[in-house]
Amino acid sequence: MEVKRVSIRQAKKRIKEDPELSKMLVRSGWRDIALDLDGDGKADVAFSSDSLGRKIDTIAFDLSGSGEYNLYLHDFDGNGIPDTVCLVDDDSEEQVVAFGGEVELGFIKLGVKVADLIIAENFLNNELGISLKDLSDYLKLNAAIMLQELQKRDDAEGIMKVYYYLNDAGTYYIATMDGNKPRVRPFGTLLLDNEKLYIQTGPSKDVAKQIDANPFVEICACMGDTWLRVSTELVKDDNHDVKVKMLNKMPSLKAMYSADDDSMQMYYMKDAKAVFSSFTSEPQTVEF
Ligand SMILES: Cc1cc2nc3c(=O)[nH]c(=O)nc-3n(C[C@H](O)[C@H](O)[C@H](O)COP(=O)(O)O)c2cc1C
Repeated sequence: MEVKRVSIRQAKKRIKEDPELSKMLVRSGWRDIALDLDGDGKADVAFSSDSLGRKIDTIAFDLSGSGEYNLYLHDFDGNGIPDTVCLVDDDSEEQVVAFGGEVELGFIKLGVKVADLIIAENFLNNELGISLKDLSDYLKLNAAIMLQELQKRDDAEGIMKVYYYLNDAGTYYIATMDGNKPRVRPFGTLLLDNEKLYIQTGPSKDVAKQIDANPFVEICACMGDTWLRVSTELVKDDNHDVKVKMLNKMPSLKAMYSADDDSMQMYYMKDAKAVFSSFTSEPQTVEF
């Protein structure tokens, strides 16, 4: 499914130009807009952008007519394909039901209120390049894979558990030491290969220089009310195959990096201690 990404500003302009869509607009924030498709006064679909108010990266649907969004499609890596699909189930517990950088996955129950969504088809189609049929087929077809993925996360232990968490979180924050001062920045590259968990950067970046000077780093990621902290040493790995696998897992990196020159630096985690925490349960420690 090819999706043309637009900004909230462009979407607002489009809505303003169309009297039918204008009537449906029930919220117009600087980062999000919501439409009431069936005229019941409640928003049925919302579009929101990243925190900088740029391209739309999340589409939320109210499939049940409850007035609450219960299906979210997130496109974290900006490739136009939703890489996380979240269902908020009947008990209002958010459940992430599909994951993965470039993995196309879906959700089983779409179709509950497709009739309402049809009204939005023009908007979705023209502005975002998604047809509702594509969206619904795409989600339904992949339901089985999605459920398997969920099961894998439930069953995961050790390094796999850490991999799934960081991968599903999409962005993690990595802290290094710059002399005696801490530095932290967002990262998203992640590869599990041969029982090793890799991250990637460019050797010319300050972060790489800091890791070279002191390879002990901490990584932190969070999802909902859970968080993960990994304390680890990073070890350089210049293996060509690993670089190729990294680029294939996250093809958007290919615009900046190549496995055939010195533009990529891969590191794997050694003697890592990962602590999973939440507000509601005891911390769980994994070492790998
Ligand atoms: C969501 C997100 C993910 C990122 N992932 C990476 C990454 O995996 N590797 C990388 O080198 N830079 C990544 N960056 C860019 C770095 O955060 C940025 O280059 C940062 O300035 C590097 O740290 P430094 O300035 O201390 O060298 C990412 C940025 C964002 C916003």
